[in-house]
Amino acid sequence: MVAVNRTQVADRPNGRIHFFDLKPDEGSFLDDTIAGLSKPQKTLSPKYFYDQAGSILFDRICETEEYYVTRTELGLLASISGDIADLAGPESTVIEYGSGASVKVRILLDALERPAGYVAIDISRDHLTAAAQSIADDYLDLKVVALCADFANRIDLPSELDLGGEFRLGFFPGSTIGNFSPEGAQRFLCDARNLLAPDGALLLGFDLKKDQDILNTAYNDSEGITALFNKNILVRMKRELDAVLDVDAFGHHAFYNEAQGRIEMHLKAERDQTIILGEHKFELKAGESIHTENSYKYDMDQITTWAERLGFTCDATWTDPNEYFGIVFLSTGGEQPIGG
Ligand code: AVI
Repeated sequence: MVAVNRTQVADRPNGRIHFFDLKPDEGSFLDDTIAGLSKPQKTLSPKYFYDQAGSILFDRICETEEYYVTRTELGLLASISGDIADLAGPESTVIEYGSGASVKVRILLDALERPAGYVAIDISRDHLTAAAQSIADDYLDLKVVALCADFANRIDLPSELDLGGEFRLGFFPGSTIGNFSPEGAQRFLCDARNLLAPDGALLLGFDLKKDQDILNTAYNDSEGITALFNKNILVRMKRELDAVLDVDAFGHHAFYNEAQGRIEMHLKAERDQTIILGEHKFELKAGESIHTENSYKYDMDQITTWAERLGFTCDATWTDPNEYFGIVFLSTGGEQPIGG
């Protein structure tokens, strides 16, 4: 890794990465937990799913038979990568939101004509630098930048990060946009357009509305991995916050809420429970739940309508043959960024 901040990115980086830390507010697990459990409908933030054990469980979810999302998106991306390369043109810089292990982006980097750069954005510092380094090792001519930031909030690229006049191809795969509220999703689109304009586009993947049985099954896999993933947040509360609670007294409850157009995940108390967190005591009646995650499912029209209202032009839309998953290519249109 190259020492950060003021380093000029070399023309031929030869496997070095540049690291910028925007010092995202990672929140306080304790404060957020107390606040969430104090609400009439108790909640825990899904951002606390992803400790090391939770990240491993999420990877295992992606491999289950029932969770079609990852496999479908990968297949679709591979089949349209040539079209994406044509739309983006040569020497573009890929800016990935929530880059994780930087796996999916390889499909793009392999298809694009002489990609000039890759900016990986993630909140998890250690994962981020390791994944960015593996990209730099494999794509020696690419400028690789690791940017530690929270993409749920507006990101201002550091002034030292010189991306030149290259086409900026934002990449937000995984249907992670579905984990935002609809207002949060539109805010994200607005911020992304401002960051990618004037000469850029956002390649966005999202999960489409579909038969409810398929959705319900995807979040209730037969091996119980999603249940372990959901309950891992309780395990974490015990380990990191010294919470007194009985993990086995909670059941995994995930269902499609049609009125809201989303999968909801809850942890449901199977009998009356008390959670003790320091001086705080939270009582749950049998059947009462803690709401842990929403995963919104969208129609293609909903996404393109929002995008166009925010100033994007929708250049292409794709779905897999089953119409389970959607990908859109939203160009910034060269106009001035919009405020907000
Ligand atoms: C990360 N995110 C897109 C997943 C989803 O489908 O909403 C998280 C997940 N939760 C349970 N299974 C997968």
